[in-house]
Amino acid sequence: MRVLITGGLGVNGCWVTRQFLAAGHEAVVFDNRPDFSLTRDIADRFEFVEGDILDSDSLARTLKERRIERICHLAAIYPSACDEVPLRGFEINALASVRLLEAARIAGVRRVVFTSSVAALAPFPAMQPGEVLRVDESYPSCPGDSGVYGATKVAAELMGMNYARLYGIEFAALRFASIYGPGKLAPRHGDASMFVIPNVIVRALAGKPISLPYASNQPFDLVYADDVADSIVRACVADALPHSIYHIGAGRTYALGEFCAAVSAAIPGAKIEFAPESQGGARSAWYFDISRADSDFGYRPRYTPESAIRHWLDWSTKLGI
Ligand SMILES: NC(=O)c1ccc[n+]([C@@H]2O[C@H](COP(=O)([O-])OP(=O)(O)OC[C@H]3O[C@@H](n4cnc5c(N)ncnc54)[C@H](O)[C@@H]3O)[C@@H](O)[C@H]2O)c1
Repeated sequence: MRVLITGGLGVNGCWVTRQFLAAGHEAVVFDNRPDFSLTRDIADRFEFVEGDILDSDSLARTLKERRIERICHLAAIYPSACDEVPLRGFEINALASVRLLEAARIAGVRRVVFTSSVAALAPFPAMQPGEVLRVDESYPSCPGDSGVYGATKVAAELMGMNYARLYGIEFAALRFASIYGPGKLAPRHGDASMFVIPNVIVRALAGKPISLPYASNQPFDLVYADDVADSIVRACVADALPHSIYHIGAGRTYALGEFCAAVSAAIPGAKIEFAPESQGGARSAWYFDISRADSDFGYRPRYTPESAIRHWLDWSTKLGI
């Protein structure tokens, strides 16, 4: 199969590209930033098109000339960038997705897999401290406090469903929980301190202590980038996609302390402190019900915090990042 991966050089895209190649597919990567630091090991095995996702002509040419059969659409910008310049956020994350759907329609591409986010959902209800909400695909979308980014994801999801209705393009949006994996740092994603686990790793590697604002039993749905890629590849190659929305996460919560224990095991001497009991223990939390993705295309996370952190550090060494 010939697959186009937009944003295929990014934190998740690099694993998508790697997995397609490993499965014997032909991968064409479309990205506007020719930074091959996360794809060094496979850089001579995929076709690369440098282009802006807003450039309809370049997209159309790529689909036609490279005879693309299916598309995984990962090119996007992050929440802080979307809030900084909302118009640009909407253009790149939403309008460009519609342009891609239109180019796919004209080129006769069969399927588009779109990468959405928990940010597409309506705010979660107020819960008791320590209470955990399981969230399936019937939960309403319509972002409240998740800003411009969430709005762009909902807009692109709805337009994908309309292209499916009007033109028969097979479309699925995969909504991800929080993702962790190598490369999730500046200059790609900005300040590491915004992301708990990357920040823990960065500080531990630098020999610096870190004091976390959460209790060690704080639950999180955090999914590893290579599992995320597995879900995207499965959704792309499945014989049929019975639904247009899928929730993708770890399938359960893990306590923050479990991630930190894995970091301490991999980086001896890591100094990690949690919020003291006096601050009230675990707050409420949520996690994605992934049973639809499991039954429709066999998605089941393969990583635990231990194996993911080991994999992250091994690959960081391998890639020299
Ligand atoms: N990482 C997370 O926690 C998370 C969570 C939920 C959803 N997502 C979604 O998953 C997808 C992939 O995220 P990621 O973390 O791999 O992001 P990333 O920033 O690592 O990768 C995105 C890639 O898109 C490219 N890109 C950005 N703007 C472009 C443009 N105008 N034209 C062409 N290419 C462009 C970038 O150069 C980059 O290589 C995105 O749609 C993101 O919104 C990510």
